[in-house]
Amino acid sequence: MDCLACHDNSGSYLKAAGGAGNPDATVDLTKVAQHVGRPQRTNCGTCHFFGGGGNNVKHGDLEMALFDTTREVDVHMGSDGVDMSCVDCHTATEHQMKGKLYSISSMNRNRVLCEECHSETPHTETMLNEHTRKVACQTCHVPTYAKVNSTKLRWDWSTAGRLRDGKPYEEKDALGDDTYMSIKGSFQWGRNLEPEYAWFDGTATHYLLGDPVTETPVRLNRLFGSYDDPDAKIIPVKVHRGRQPFDEGNRILVQPKLAGSQAGDGAFWRDFDWQRSATEGMALVGLPYSGKLAFVETEMVWPINHMVAPKGQAVSCAECHTRDGSRLAGLRAFYMPGRDRNPWVDGLGSLAIALAIAGAGIHATARAMSRRRRMERSLER
Ligand code: HEC
Ligand code: HEC
Ligand code: HEC
Ligand code: HEC
Ligand code: HEC
Ligand code: HEC
Repeated sequence: MDCLACHDNSGSYLKAAGGAGNPDATVDLTKVAQHVGRPQRTNCGTCHFFGGGGNNVKHGDLEMALFDTTREVDVHMGSDGVDMSCVDCHTATEHQMKGKLYSISSMNRNRVLCEECHSETPHTETMLNEHTRKVACQTCHVPTYAKVNSTKLRWDWSTAGRLRDGKPYEEKDALGDDTYMSIKGSFQWGRNLEPEYAWFDGTATHYLLGDPVTETPVRLNRLFGSYDDPDAKIIPVKVHRGRQPFDEGNRILVQPKLAGSQAGDGAFWRDFDWQRSATEGMALVGLPYSGKLAFVETEMVWPINHMVAPKGQAVSCAECHTRDGSRLAGLRAFYMPGRDRNPWVDGLGSLAIALAIAGAGIHATARAMSRRRRMERSLER
């Protein structure tokens, strides 16, 4: 990517479609050059809000609503609040920008952490501060994501290729989100979603093309961490589920050839022939193809880090510490008072929860004002 993708503040810089990264012929480069500056939300968002072929397809918490938003949607980026830009958190020294995306990154380094601005113990309530050892800030402070527009939750490639009168077509739901596209298959979307939860120690691994498939669903990325891992915390995630082409003979995922320059060259998006596009695609990436095409379930995990809600909307004690329908119902192998049965510890735990609920809120309000002023000052610095 070039400098102006991040540094144009005129809002008029544009790449030519299919132009190999060159600026569009309509761009007034003199005007753009006269308006270079610090990256704004529009610079970063123009790429990150639309990854995967449309608004909010990938992340669920990074979407065009954040171009201009309110504290209600995102306490940090709301223009009625501190109106932060991406690079207030994703700071950069000599262009080494902080922040990891675990669909590609694997290491626990050079990350953005909430604690850098807020410390590990930002609450007046000891009970809340104790939770930050095992529960990430985001888990309590991002109760829902995709708060404005929907995000894609499921992508089924196996239905792709249906034609009407010999032509590809698209279907949309009432909100205008694609539910079917001949070139890509069927989709399911969701809005105002509760995240799923996972243990995470900052390290991850990925399925790479050619890796043998040993389990289904195939996990395209996998986050490491468990209760016993001192570095691991519970984080909120979006799980993107899919059904993707698979070589049943060699038991590897298939890279189909999708785009092509002319009809008949085997590109799925022109010829709609799975066999041809699998054969051509695998040849292009230098992998064997047995000719036995099937479809296999896949999963990809996307950590949720944005759309932090106002503090009053933080996940409440009872949403986790409850026997039925706990947000953490999917995470087992550790004891949680209220959720799990143990008469002795349970009694004490419930008492502690009851006392903490009674105590919470008493100091909170007074502290809030001075804390906010302190943070705003640190941000200005
Ligand atoms: C992916 C986005 C991105 C791209 C591409 C990019 N920059 Fe930056 N640049 C940043 C960020 C982020 C900062 C730090 C801004 C801040 O913290 O105020 C920065 C800072 C700078 C600064 C201020 C001095 C410094 O190093 O902090 C200059 C000058 C600069 N960039 C020039 C360039 C040039 C020239 C290019 C192309 C060769 C370029 N940038 C490409 C994101 C980018
Ligand atoms: C021209 C498009 C483009 C622009 C502009 C852009 N990015 Fe990215 N960014 C990418 C791509 C592509 C990746 C690789 C991950 C992927 O495929 O989604 C990436 C990766 C990242 C990562 C993960 C890095 C890692 O090592 O795991 C972060 C964080 C990020 N970008 C933030 C930003 C911020 C903040 C800005 C604005 C200063 C910005 N990006 C501007 C395209 C862009
Ligand atoms: C209040 C701080 C904050 C702001 C503002 C912010 N981010 Fe992030 N972002 C984070 C944190 C924390 C992470 C997790 C990074 C890590 O694990 O290293 C993250 C992660 C990411 C990632 C990796 C994918 C993910 O969600 O895990 C991308 C891409 C990204 N941010 C882009 C952006 C863009 C684009 C903007 C502006 C529209 C932005 N961020 C604004 C805090 C922030
Ligand atoms: C177990 C859930 C939980 C965890 C984990 C958690 N918080 Fe909170 N947080 C809350 C609740 C509930 C409130 C509202 C308390 C109140 O209003 O008195 C709150 C309030 C806050 C406030 C406002 C404080 C004030 O006095 O105005 C900030 C800032 C904050 N949390 C940041 C964080 C950060 C940063 C982390 C991670 C280090 C974190 N929280 C972890 C539940 C949690
Ligand atoms: C670059 C510094 C910075 C980072 C990093 C940061 N915050 Fe904040 N945070 C702020 C500032 C400044 C405010 C005050 C915003 C306001 O009150 O309008 C704030 C406010 C908050 C509040 C209080 C909202 C309220 O209703 O009063 C919560 C909760 C919070 N942040 C959680 C987080 C979480 C979770 C993360 C990590 C994903 C995070 N913050 C990362 C600077 C930061
Ligand atoms: C996001 C889910 C979540 C929320 C919200 C939450 N907790 Fe917890 N809580 C946990 C987890 C996970 C543990 C287990 C931590 C451990 O074993 O270290 C835990 C542990 C506890 C314990 C046992 C502490 C110990 O040292 O064994 C008590 C008591 C408790 N929580 C009370 C509360 C109260 C009171 C609130 C509301 C103010 C609350 N929790 C909010 C997830 C949550």
